[in-house]
Amino acid sequence: MAKAKPATEIDWENLGFDYMDLPYRFLAHYQDGQWDEGQLTEDGTLHISEGSTGLHYGQADFEGLKAYRTKDGSINLFRPDQNAKRMTKSCARLLMPAFPEDKFVAAVKKVVAANADYVPPYGTGGTLYLRPLMIGVGGNIGVHPADEYIFTIFAMPVGAYYKGGLKPTNFTTSYYDRAAPHGTGQSKVGGNYGGSLLPGDQAHKAGYSDVIYLDPATHTKIEEAGSANFFGITADNEFVTPKSDSILPSITKYSLLYLAEHRLGLKAVEGDVFIDDLDRFEEAGAMGTAAVIAPIGGIEYKDNLHVFYSETEVAPITKKLYNELTGIQFGDVEAPEGWIQKVEV
Ligand code: PLP
Ligand code: COI
Repeated sequence: MAKAKPATEIDWENLGFDYMDLPYRFLAHYQDGQWDEGQLTEDGTLHISEGSTGLHYGQADFEGLKAYRTKDGSINLFRPDQNAKRMTKSCARLLMPAFPEDKFVAAVKKVVAANADYVPPYGTGGTLYLRPLMIGVGGNIGVHPADEYIFTIFAMPVGAYYKGGLKPTNFTTSYYDRAAPHGTGQSKVGGNYGGSLLPGDQAHKAGYSDVIYLDPATHTKIEEAGSANFFGITADNEFVTPKSDSILPSITKYSLLYLAEHRLGLKAVEGDVFIDDLDRFEEAGAMGTAAVIAPIGGIEYKDNLHVFYSETEVAPITKKLYNELTGIQFGDVEAPEGWIQKVEV
C-alpha cells in the first residue's frame, strides 16, 4: 500500500471517503492480562497470527470519530469520550479487554497531532476521520476469546460519505436484516458490517445511497441505515428517531436529540417509526459521524418510492440541524459543556 501523498498535494475540496496510509498511527498490545502503553508507529500493516480470532470469529470492534479544523487553525475533537465509552461496551459484548477510556482519548489526540498536516483546512468541508480498531490476535482455533489483542487508531482526511453530501439522496429497504433481535446490533462490531455488504451492494447497484433496515422481529419498523441512524421530522415539529435494542447507539443521534430540543425548540422523540407510516414526516435524514446529516430524498419500500420534502432540495429543519451540529464541530457555534476537546499540536 503506497503511503499517502504529502498533505500539500491533497485536493481538500474533493475528498471522498477513502483509505489513506498516513504517516502515523497508534498501536498497543494486550498480553499476559494487560495493555502496554502503546506508541505511535509508521507501519500501517499489522503482523498477526493466522489463528487470530479477529479473522475467524469476528472478535473485532471499532469506532469512528473526526477531528475538525477551526477558523483560527486549531483542531477540535467532537465528544471523543463517548466513542471511548461505546468501545468499552462493544468490548464487553465480545469478551475483549477494553482499552482504558482516558488513554483512548489521549491516544486519539496523539494520532491527530502527529498527522496534523492532514486535518483539512477550515472551510473545505473536509475532516480527519479516526478509526480506532481492536482485534483478537494470537494462535487460536477453538471458538474462545483470544488471550492477546491489538488496539490501533489510524486516520485519514475525508469528505462526504454519501455522494450527495447535503444534497438529498434516495435510500431503499432490504429483505435482509442487519442484526438479530438479541444479537450484536447495538455494538460496533465488525460482524454487523460483514453481513451488510451484500444488501449494501444491491442497494448501490440499484442507484440508492444506502439500505434502511427494518426491525428484525417484525419487519414493520425502521431500524437504521447501514452506516447511520435515521431521523424524521413531523409537521408538528417533532424530531423522531427509532428506539431499538438492535441499532447502534449513535453519538450523532444523541447529540441531535439534544440540539433539536434545546437549540431548535423541537420535540425530541425516540420511538417506533413504522415503514407504512412515512406520511407523518415532512423531512428525513441519516445521521452519523461519517454521514454527518445526510438528507433522505425518498425511501423505496415494496417498489414504491416515498418522497419526503424533495429529491433535490435540502429541507429547512434538516438544514438548521446541520448548521447547528457542524457549527459546533468546527468551532463556530458554542458547544454544550464538554462536547469539544482541543488537540494540542
Ligand atoms: N449506525 C451505524 C450502523 C453506524 O455504522 C454508525 C456510524 O458510526 C452510526 C449509526 C452513527 O453513529 P455515530 O453517530 O456514533 O457515528
Ligand atoms: C462512522 O460513521 O464512523 C461509521 O463507522 C460509519 C461507517 C464508515 C462504518
